Amino acid sequence: MNVLAFESSCDETGVALVSYAGHARPQLLAHALHSQIKMHEAYGGVVPELASRDHVRRVLPLTRQVLADAQLSLDAVDVVAFTQGPGLAGALLVGAGVACALAAALGKPTLGVHHLEGHLLSPFLSADPPEFPFVALLVSGGHTQLMRVDGVGRYELLGETIDDAAGEAFDKSAKLLGLGYPGGPALSQLAQQGNPQAFDLPRPLLHQPNLDFSFAGLKTAVLTTLKRLGPDVTDAQRADVAASTQAAIVEVLVKKSLKALKATGLKRLVIAGGVGANAGLRAQLNEAAQRHRFRVHYPELHLCTDNGAMIALAAAMRLQAGLAHAGTDYRFDVRPR
Ligand code: KG4
Ligand code: ZN
Repeated sequence: MNVLAFESSCDETGVALVSYAGHARPQLLAHALHSQIKMHEAYGGVVPELASRDHVRRVLPLTRQVLADAQLSLDAVDVVAFTQGPGLAGALLVGAGVACALAAALGKPTLGVHHLEGHLLSPFLSADPPEFPFVALLVSGGHTQLMRVDGVGRYELLGETIDDAAGEAFDKSAKLLGLGYPGGPALSQLAQQGNPQAFDLPRPLLHQPNLDFSFAGLKTAVLTTLKRLGPDVTDAQRADVAASTQAAIVEVLVKKSLKALKATGLKRLVIAGGVGANAGLRAQLNEAAQRHRFRVHYPELHLCTDNGAMIALAAAMRLQAGLAHAGTDYRFDVRPR
């Protein structure tokens, strides 16, 4: 089964072709991605109208590129998948509209995919794919969740953020440090030159018995710290703030993940979503995995943030598991929330 998929939920246009036979491992035949980050940078965040228009501009050239890279024609496509939500309504409609129009023209069925399920299953495209069951830590710009995953479509929410997501905490703190948008990668880079113990930033809910998170207080603490340092703040002090911020976020993510493993008795942890690219998080999780004897699996670094490959994969896995049916009604209804 060859699945062609479109991801356009936010500020990346992703197109990918995945082949999956069920028994063998899923194969990423080709994928192409265009990031709009440069375009939105000037505004300090994603401008929805600009995002939609840019998806329109990029989606067909990227599709041609994917087919050329895979050396396949559209005839070889069995199912056309698209991100149905959550995301920006106008942006989602571009991917959904193109997917349904293309499928209708080809007489092929379509399948809408939940963006987070794409992230969650993305480690199955890595060289070291996990086995079920596992605990998943989903850390993106909009979500922070711990889940018990027993199989495709068998997800139990164990805990989640009660306010900001981990990626949001990175982005908002980075903005306060004047690091632009999205700030996660930039903050992470600056943190490498700083002392993570320089400032004692809050780690909310860390010692609560539940598996929920709260990151809203962190940006306030970062703001207070920067105000205290004043306008003469040195580069070294800014690096210390970055390192301390990252340390606070990472400690909470690692400790709550350990708690989830303990509560479920599982020995496998899967990381997914953009924050999963964070080098500090990966280093601490790898160390914890050695110390506490569990396995940790990540998506390939370039598939941590939004991409079409994870959407094609999730569609293929759902279809192979018999959990979804690709239809031919071509109703491209999207679900922004
Ligand atoms: O999964 P994703 O691409 O989009 C959503 O579905 O939200 O995640 C984007 C988030 C942003 O908040 C970004 O700052 C963060 O992931 N991120 C990082 C890193 N790379 C991306 N945060 C920390 N360190 C990184 N290296
Ligand atoms: Zn995402």
